[in-house]
Amino acid sequence: MASIGRQAPSISLIAQCKTRFNQVVTSFSSTSSPVVHSRSFSIFSVKRTGTRRAATVGLGFNRWVSTVPVSPKKTRRKTGEILSTLLEVGGVKISRDDVVRENDPTNNVPDSIFSKIGLQLHRRDNHPLGILKQEIYSYFDNNFPGLFNKFDNLCPVVSVKMNFDDVLVPHDHVSRTYNDTYYINAETVLRCHTSAHQAELLREGHSYFLVTGDVYRRDSVDSTHYPVFHQMEGFRVFTPVDWEASGVDGTSYAAMDLKKTLEGLAQHLFGNVEMRWVDAYFPFTDPSFELEIYFQGNWMEVLGCGVTEQKILINNGRAGSTAWAFGLGLERLAMVLFDIPDIRLFWSSDLRFTSQFSSGQLGVKFKSFSKFPPCYKDISFWISESFTENNFCEVVRGIAGDLAEQVSLIDSFTNKKGMTSHCYRITYRSMERSLTDEEINELQGRVRDEVENKLNVTIR
Ligand code: DAH
Repeated sequence: MASIGRQAPSISLIAQCKTRFNQVVTSFSSTSSPVVHSRSFSIFSVKRTGTRRAATVGLGFNRWVSTVPVSPKKTRRKTGEILSTLLEVGGVKISRDDVVRENDPTNNVPDSIFSKIGLQLHRRDNHPLGILKQEIYSYFDNNFPGLFNKFDNLCPVVSVKMNFDDVLVPHDHVSRTYNDTYYINAETVLRCHTSAHQAELLREGHSYFLVTGDVYRRDSVDSTHYPVFHQMEGFRVFTPVDWEASGVDGTSYAAMDLKKTLEGLAQHLFGNVEMRWVDAYFPFTDPSFELEIYFQGNWMEVLGCGVTEQKILINNGRAGSTAWAFGLGLERLAMVLFDIPDIRLFWSSDLRFTSQFSSGQLGVKFKSFSKFPPCYKDISFWISESFTENNFCEVVRGIAGDLAEQVSLIDSFTNKKGMTSHCYRITYRSMERSLTDEEINELQGRVRDEVENKLNVTIR
């Protein structure tokens, strides 16, 4: 695990990223029918009750699917897969050696994460995430013709300033830790949310925009969590002309417009469902809310949103205006809309998955093509002070890739000497084939070795 420390040489990616924006404008329409999936997606959100909420990210297939290699440079990974070492995203060249530096304590990006950069599932027309993105575009295009600019090709390598400072994330916020975020160096991260682009787009003069992109978070392993997932950010600025005739102040006007707009969006995606607004906290908005819908007997969080903090507007050339913003996780909505049971499936290139979806067809129900048996393996060790579950999960994912279906803590105790033991159960399962005992034992053996070598724990 990397820790905050010596500063690594900075790379030129940020400079490149700042100058390239590719706009994509398209529209669509269709219907949907939902099922329930209830996990919060935000690490920034705190309900007014004060409880910190779990982040939801998902699982993905570690198989390398080639993006747009800009050079023939390739490297062979331990697993035998070929990894392209130079990519291009939105006109920005990203080299593997800039992003993955194992011996640099300010870097914590593994190859398994580098291999996801540039895949851009949200830009594939026949992929559930692409279909959902288009459906949201269609809602905004129908209701606000020509108003919102759309960005879905902004580089995911951003500065710490863009990711955190520009959107007022406090210095001691948990999302800034190396345990939660992928750092390329002390000043550069893989964005952990699409809010990272708010300030730069405002400064460029945009007042109405939708930003869709892949986001990266270190997290647990289960059917709804994966270290790379996709978000859409929405933003709308108002000037006094907009609210003066209405008789309410600028903040109330923005809040009213926000709620009306997002209720319309939820209805567009989910049909005629019951909705409720829950007060929340985000560093970048005040007031802040979460929208929940009632579906199949459960309240499900759809998105986080709020009225943008004045400081963000003032800092980015918009003194005197107000604005609203929202952020939603595409996977959590797509899992519900398409009945996709495991987040790893989004990354599958198996035709039995990909052939089930086509452009414009939101809400087509996914038909499971197989249910291969799971295999459970337990591992117990004495932890050290520096141990974190995210680090353990990353070791498991790094070795087993998407064969790792779930990692759960099944036992924990502290002995008289004050030593704490954890026992984790790893569920291995392929969605595509049966796994052999030999290969699972081999994977588990490597997990044991690497846990002991890298995580400073003692296997029991
Ligand atoms: N950035 C938040 C997250 O990733 C989501 C979000 C919440 C975005 C509220 C917003 C907002 O723009 O206003 O958890």
